[in-house]
Amino acid sequence: MQIIAIDGPAGSGKSSVSKAVAKELGFGYLDTGAAYRALTWAVLNNGLVVANSTAEEIAKNFGYSISLDPENYWVKVGDLDLTYEIRLASVGEAVSQFASLPQVREYMHLMTKELVHASGLAGVVVEGRDITTVVFPEAQKRILLTASEEVRLGRRSAELPEGTSIADQVTKRDQNDSKVVDFLVPAAGVHLVDSTELDFDSTVKAIIALIAKD
Ligand code: DC
Repeated sequence: MQIIAIDGPAGSGKSSVSKAVAKELGFGYLDTGAAYRALTWAVLNNGLVVANSTAEEIAKNFGYSISLDPENYWVKVGDLDLTYEIRLASVGEAVSQFASLPQVREYMHLMTKELVHASGLAGVVVEGRDITTVVFPEAQKRILLTASEEVRLGRRSAELPEGTSIADQVTKRDQNDSKVVDFLVPAAGVHLVDSTELDFDSTVKAIIALIAKD
């Protein structure tokens, strides 16, 4: 099985680019941030307790599932489809607080590896903050997708509900997250792709070319 690991800060385009790369290669697509968002939603709205819980208890009580099909993406907790809800600002603002708990990260790492290895797919594009360094350091290709802060803020503003502070959503969350995992600087062996000057299609092409290269 081929694992393509893609990290990057908020607004770098890593989710849409990773999904397009997966479609192009006929691979599965796994958005690992969705699990942190769904867990945050479940703590805020569904009575999930993560403080003072073990990774095993979180696994037992969370009820999380996600599609690995880039053509049919969905996220569920139990029977509830949360594909839309996990993108709400209330979730985005609280997620770093739970993502920083060691028991949450331990659960996420085990769950992510299991999902990928049990998928039976020829390949999976996995994207998220610590995927190239902590979760899949053995991936066939490890990529850090970046863009200038100005470009990232511009891209995110198109996705956010009106009245939301873009700087709060992007810059502050990246600062909080990078205290836990430093994803802003490429680790050894990780390829840097800077999309500041690239449009969407050129970014996808650059990554496919990188994957094809030995
Ligand atoms: O990629 P995203 O913005 O949807 O991720 C949501 C949050 O989850 C983000 O604030 C950081 C956290 N996260 C993480 O800590 N590790 C991952 N592999 C993916 C996401």
